[in-house]
Amino acid sequence: MVTTSYVHDADEVVYAGDCLALMRDMPNAAAQLVITSPPYNIGKPYERKLSLKDYLEQQTKVIESCVRILAPTGSICWQVGNFVDKGQIVPLDIVLYPIFEKYGLQLRNRIVWHFEHGLHCSKRFSGRYETVLWFTKTEDYKFNLDPVRVPQKYPGKRHFKGPKVGELSGNPLGKNPGDVWIIPNVKSNHVEKTAHPCQFPVELVERFVLSLTDENDLVFDPFLGSGTSVVAALRQGRRGLGAELAPDYVAIARTRVAEQLAGRLATRPMHKPVFDPEDAGSSLTTNRWKIPEVSALQLSLMQKRAMYEVSPHEDI
Ligand SMILES: C[S@@+](CC[C@H](N)C(=O)[O-])C[C@H]1O[C@@H](n2cnc3c(N)ncnc32)[C@H](O)[C@@H]1O
Repeated sequence: MVTTSYVHDADEVVYAGDCLALMRDMPNAAAQLVITSPPYNIGKPYERKLSLKDYLEQQTKVIESCVRILAPTGSICWQVGNFVDKGQIVPLDIVLYPIFEKYGLQLRNRIVWHFEHGLHCSKRFSGRYETVLWFTKTEDYKFNLDPVRVPQKYPGKRHFKGPKVGELSGNPLGKNPGDVWIIPNVKSNHVEKTAHPCQFPVELVERFVLSLTDENDLVFDPFLGSGTSVVAALRQGRRGLGAELAPDYVAIARTRVAEQLAGRLATRPMHKPVFDPEDAGSSLTTNRWKIPEVSALQLSLMQKRAMYEVSPHEDI
């Protein structure tokens, strides 16, 4: 059975209700990592669209409480996209940053999360990334790079001169993953897809859990949705806690957490390469940029043809 209210030392809690109410039960410095994707205020089924000012006031209250329950060595990761109003976009990280700054948080990275699925826009370029602001509470923060290293581009490369000649020039454990993360979003036939419209991929949260916490630390998500942050925490031997307001999503979150505890939850494995329809031999990938006959005008426009190849998913 999944625990339903805050209990010190519980491995997993999925609380049904407002995150501010849950945080009132939590002592100071209880969580090592706060990771979340708040409502974006764009009229999703689970949100009532507010003015930007009211939205920011609401976010301020949540952020203030998150800072209180965060350990001194802890981190807050706030994942957001754009607020869209009459076709104009407001990148939410830009307007939220001053709130975190007001509470003394220190920005370590602004991570760009790039994905390929999404709505096709007709009056602006389609949005294909969102960001994660990673803040720490102090300068003395946990950061474990080794568990999240990714393969080197040239793993066998060696120093060709100097005192280290002949030795591997890169770290054999892999390289730092950088601040642009290419991880598929949870849409259509993604193995993790539930009825929730905007789930985190488990892999995205796992990377933060592994790098910013140690085993048995508490990972907290104030806007838990389908339960991904608790699932990711449990998968990595941490404790997970989250609040979710909508009863339907609470039910999904509790089911996923229970399935994770039973070892039955299907997830996309970390480091699995992004699906490439051409490599996979899909017959649906024909596109007009690939035909061999190109007019002289097209050639002059294209010059280096390869540079102009576009994704077959683009609107044309
Ligand atoms: C962007 S979604 C989060 C999705 C989540 N990252 C996942 O992997 O499923 C935001 C969620 O916050 C919930 N929510 C909105 N206001 C809330 C509040 N005050 N307390 C708790 N949950 C809230 C919404 O119902 C929605 O499911």
